[in-house]
Amino acid sequence: MLKIQQNISLAQRNTFHLPVKTRWFMEYENEEDLGKILRDEYFQECLSIHIGQGSNLLFLNDYNGIVLHSRIGGMEITSEDEETVILRVGAGCVWDEVVAYAVSQGWYGIENLSAIPGEMGAAAVQNIGAYGVELKDVVESVEAYNQLTFEKQIYPAEACGYGYRESRFKNPHEDPHIITQVNLRLSKRPHFTLEYGQLRERVGEKPTLEGVREAVIAIRREKLPDPAVLGNAGSYFKNPVVGAEQFRRLQTQYPAMPSYPAEEGKVKIPAGWLIEQCGYKGKREGEVGVYEKQALVLVNYGGATGDEIALLAESIRTAVQERFGIELMPEVKYIV
Ligand code: EPU
Repeated sequence: MLKIQQNISLAQRNTFHLPVKTRWFMEYENEEDLGKILRDEYFQECLSIHIGQGSNLLFLNDYNGIVLHSRIGGMEITSEDEETVILRVGAGCVWDEVVAYAVSQGWYGIENLSAIPGEMGAAAVQNIGAYGVELKDVVESVEAYNQLTFEKQIYPAEACGYGYRESRFKNPHEDPHIITQVNLRLSKRPHFTLEYGQLRERVGEKPTLEGVREAVIAIRREKLPDPAVLGNAGSYFKNPVVGAEQFRRLQTQYPAMPSYPAEEGKVKIPAGWLIEQCGYKGKREGEVGVYEKQALVLVNYGGATGDEIALLAESIRTAVQERFGIELMPEVKYIV
């Protein structure tokens, strides 16, 4: 079924809980209806965006266009052998329900990604990651509609342009696609990724799938605000990646600077640390603030506007740039 609504509030559809409105809201349950929307001339002339649970968006204004949302559900095994299972997941499935299902079936690979807000489609667009695992590590292929040719295509993981919080699906202007299903390759053989932070310590000597899921959920609860209680969009900025030479200079000046190895000999620096050093952790300005337990998270105490959040982000960016010479880039997507 195709649901079309006009002039509705998006307050419950973005995790900052900004009370913006959209001119149109369209929700589809199957590919036929998605095809109808994409071929519609009015749709083609209008401004449009596709959202999941709105957990990575900052609306700066009311949206004068069409907000699309997928309700394509379903999880099915499409192939399996002794070692692996390929699970085909509808783009509208709630991500944490996918993780809970995989864990309940004894399938390994996504337990570290427990409790990340959002849906399957958006997870594959932005290559969600946590505790040493990224979605791309388990993506077999992505099924998507090409908005220019109206054809459905299946992209093997290598063709998805995956990088740190990056994919080809993040550039809707150059390469517009709408994801309909994601095929995940999960393992039936136990294997864990426990090297990040205190994860190994928390799960103990004999890790189990359920144990890892519970530990990840507990760590997240301690560090990250629940968007149902305090509006936020998780990490507001990406962790910056700098060259080895720049890192050596920074380390001489700031020996306590934490870091992780990144691709091609580069170094990733936790943005939360940089922001904390600039004195922003726990800082509140009116209705917006920096979360007291994790400086990478900006929060809406209730009545903030998108502009106020963006302004605080801008002053953080300037402070980090001036002190460390490092440019922070938002992970959150700005919608104008
Ligand atoms: N840190 C501070 N002060 C802070 C926060 C962090 O000094 O206020 C330093 C500490 O050294 C800490 C390190 O930063 O050990 C890393 O912090 P944390 O483990 O909380 O992770 P993060 O780098 O801040 C990233 C992801 C998170 C993900 C966690 C765990 C990005 C942008 N963020 O955060 O993802 O949950 O690692 O893997 O890569 C998200 O994308 O929305 C998100 C929450």
